[in-house]
Amino acid sequence: MPETNTSRSCLAIVLAAGEGTRMRSDKPKVMHEIAGRPMLGHVLTAVRAAGAQRIAVVVGPDRIDVADCARSFAPDCAVFEQRDRLGTAHAVLAARAALEEPVDDVIIAFADTPLIDADIFARLREPLADGAALAILGFEAFDPTGYGRLILANGVLQAIREEKDASIEEKPISLCNAGLMALRGDMALGLLDAIGNANAKGEYYLTDAVAIAVDRGHSPQVVRAREQFVQGVNDRAQLAAAEAVMQERLRAQAMAGGATLIDPASVHLSADTVIGRDVVIEPNVFFGPGVSVGDNAVIHAFSHIEGTQIGAGAQIGPFARLRPGTRLAEKAKVGNFVEIKKAQVGPGAKVNHLSYIGDAQIGARANIGAGTITCNYDGFDKHLTRIGEGAFIGSNSALVAPVTIGDGAYVGSGSVVTQDVPDDALAIARGRQHTKEGWARDFRASRGRR
Ligand code: UD1
Ligand code: MG
Repeated sequence: MPETNTSRSCLAIVLAAGEGTRMRSDKPKVMHEIAGRPMLGHVLTAVRAAGAQRIAVVVGPDRIDVADCARSFAPDCAVFEQRDRLGTAHAVLAARAALEEPVDDVIIAFADTPLIDADIFARLREPLADGAALAILGFEAFDPTGYGRLILANGVLQAIREEKDASIEEKPISLCNAGLMALRGDMALGLLDAIGNANAKGEYYLTDAVAIAVDRGHSPQVVRAREQFVQGVNDRAQLAAAEAVMQERLRAQAMAGGATLIDPASVHLSADTVIGRDVVIEPNVFFGPGVSVGDNAVIHAFSHIEGTQIGAGAQIGPFARLRPGTRLAEKAKVGNFVEIKKAQVGPGAKVNHLSYIGDAQIGARANIGAGTITCNYDGFDKHLTRIGEGAFIGSNSALVAPVTIGDGAYVGSGSVVTQDVPDDALAIARGRQHTKEGWARDFRASRGRR
């Protein structure tokens, strides 16, 4: 991050009041997720990382859900409500109280531009440190339709023209406004208050701050970014496009950190996925939010993992499902067709085949046989199963919680265990086997078959 920014105070205003009509959704646009994190969360994470000491978020009327979402990523942010949706400048001015407090730099970001990063904000603030009144983020748009065009004269920015107001000559301009802006704190309100709404949409355009600054003798600066970082999300197709960019980035980070992704394009990561060194991830693995993977772990193909800590050297899958609250200690093994929820699996313990382990604690080196089920739910409440260190659970056993299997205990295959099993004991809880010699042959004969 450029050094010039560290000494300057900064207020970030994040606009999140848009209706997002084109998403055709009951959920506010800015809460749609990219890599398991709401778009608003991505933007707040980036502005915080860029050194904004104060953050103001502008939300639509009665959007408690958006306000809560904002606070979950920036607990100390100030939330402002924009009652009527009269344009981007109007939205910024909803945060007037935040703008009235003295600050060196003001940065404005749109919550529907989730791919931006801290470095972009830092670069946008640089011209302010050098004395500029205003800096805006520009990019060369592959298709400029819908974006504000940057109008330059002799290489100097004069104005931003919105699509609907652009003339035939201006429409082909491909240098566009990304929507991010940095303003000098002592001039921000003066510029914003001067913005009117005499335009095709009858809205207060934040982008008009540029022409007003020029009128007042300032030279707004353009900082350039690659389109990949600034593409906006207005509909589901753009949401998917942004997701694809984010996934590329996250996979590249995982690989740069020393993980092997055999087929990167088939691995889906979350923004907060933490992957250690020498981890191997086979094709078709899904990481939901809240997953960390220790060094040297192997995640076999087709595993679905959320809210789980995976210890060093653990082996998962293929076809494992790890649900929130799962903690696997080092060298634990979870094999195929195993579901684990809210359970701890001790060091070196194995749950290798076809099991459901929910609300459980499994001690070190325990072996959970194929088809073992923890019966954790009685229709009303969830109950805990404890399995001691080195215990052996025979295949196809049902452990009816609450129940404790002691250290070193042994449960016979096919048991339905309803009582605690002491340390080092054997428990067999199943019907006796009856064997009748010749019965099958006689039965067939009675039906006329040999
Ligand atoms: C805006 C810019 C355009 C730029 C483009 C980049 C203006 C006038 N236009 O256009 O130059 O190229 O972004 O993506 O700024 N919002 C509110 N309240 C409002 C209006 C908008 O909070 O009254 C918020 C929206 O939630 C969104 C952001 O402001 O996060 C931008 O609004 P949007 O309607 O998407 O603007 P664009 O037409 O995309
Ligand atoms: Mg937009």
